[in-house]
Amino acid sequence: MKTIYFDYNATTPLDPQVQEAMMPYFGEVFGNPSSVHHVGRQARAILDDARDRVAKVWHCKPSEVIFTSGGTESNNLAIFGTARALAEKGKHIITSTIEHHAVLHCFQYLEKKEGFSVTYIPVNNEGQINPADVKAAIRPDTTLVSIMAANNEIGTIQPVAEIGAICRERGIIFHTDAVQWFGKESFANVGQFNADLVSFCAHKLHGPKGIGALYIKSPLFPDPIIFGGGHENERRAGTENLAAVIGLAEAMERFVKTPVFPRERLFQMTNELAGSVSKISGVHLRGSQTKRLSNTIAFTVDEADSITLLAGLDIDGVCASSGSACSAGSLEPSHVITALGVDKESANSLVRFSLGRDSTADEVREVIPILEKVVEMSRR
Ligand SMILES: Cc1ncc(COP(=O)(O)O)c(C=O)c1O
Repeated sequence: MKTIYFDYNATTPLDPQVQEAMMPYFGEVFGNPSSVHHVGRQARAILDDARDRVAKVWHCKPSEVIFTSGGTESNNLAIFGTARALAEKGKHIITSTIEHHAVLHCFQYLEKKEGFSVTYIPVNNEGQINPADVKAAIRPDTTLVSIMAANNEIGTIQPVAEIGAICRERGIIFHTDAVQWFGKESFANVGQFNADLVSFCAHKLHGPKGIGALYIKSPLFPDPIIFGGGHENERRAGTENLAAVIGLAEAMERFVKTPVFPRERLFQMTNELAGSVSKISGVHLRGSQTKRLSNTIAFTVDEADSITLLAGLDIDGVCASSGSACSAGSLEPSHVITALGVDKESANSLVRFSLGRDSTADEVREVIPILEKVVEMSRR
């Protein structure tokens, strides 16, 4: 059976050249960068060099780059670290209703367990946040705002630079989860988000899994969330995974400046998919069709549910998702789709197609009749 992989927002295959660059660090270069002897110092030099490479792409200081275990940890460090570090100044923090759970669950925890007051900014029916709503929510005790750059489930792009400017004017720390942005949208420098904290992960753009980075604008110093040695400038304890760090630097250099997701071609393909999908009766496109990532379309199907739809597609070789990979397989309706004002039953029938570098127009044409058949069968 032929596989059609339309789930690039969940993860991407490791690029062969990135893999090759990583190989020496599984073998001959094995030192611990914290060791004082020459084997350790060799590893330290390579780690420092990787940090310089990332800083060069981001146009920031190397000391502003922290390596983490991925997007989830970058978000956790940004949110817990900042909220706790500034708790004496104020305990009001702001996020949106459509964030990834790696952001949303941090806010919910701080609210339930640590006495923070949280404002969840709503979105319109296309999943768009209005910067004026963020401005209106700011209070004298607000310390942190976190709004994602691009949504993983519906691909909606948010006006983060505008929101960041509002926060900066008021002296409030702004974090953006840009995990889905990098490699898909144009990138000049990390300053373009007007953010103090920016989350990145490598596996969404043909880098290795289990490695991410957090940009922390100097002189901000979030409280650590992992304790131990003095790694990463006292900000993230734990012996660094050198192979993964090299893979991240390599993927970033290759795939961020010139986005690895070919925008024009992907827009053509997802527009064609969207056109065909919307012709199926009872199928509704969700999210913005203009302010969205070029590779992502999402829709709900009346009188059907995601699990049956995804299983049906999978039988015919098509890999899709019901939103975030973390909640795939659960019967919980997508919080992103309910935030658009869609009822819970419809939200439970979400399907997301996210295309990528190796997707072809032929695959798009093959998927359409499969989808029509699966929708029909799922309803029965
Ligand atoms: C928007 C967003 N943030 C965070 C994450 C979590 O990243 P990671 O898988 O590297 O922990 C993901 C992954 O699905 C994501 O899409």
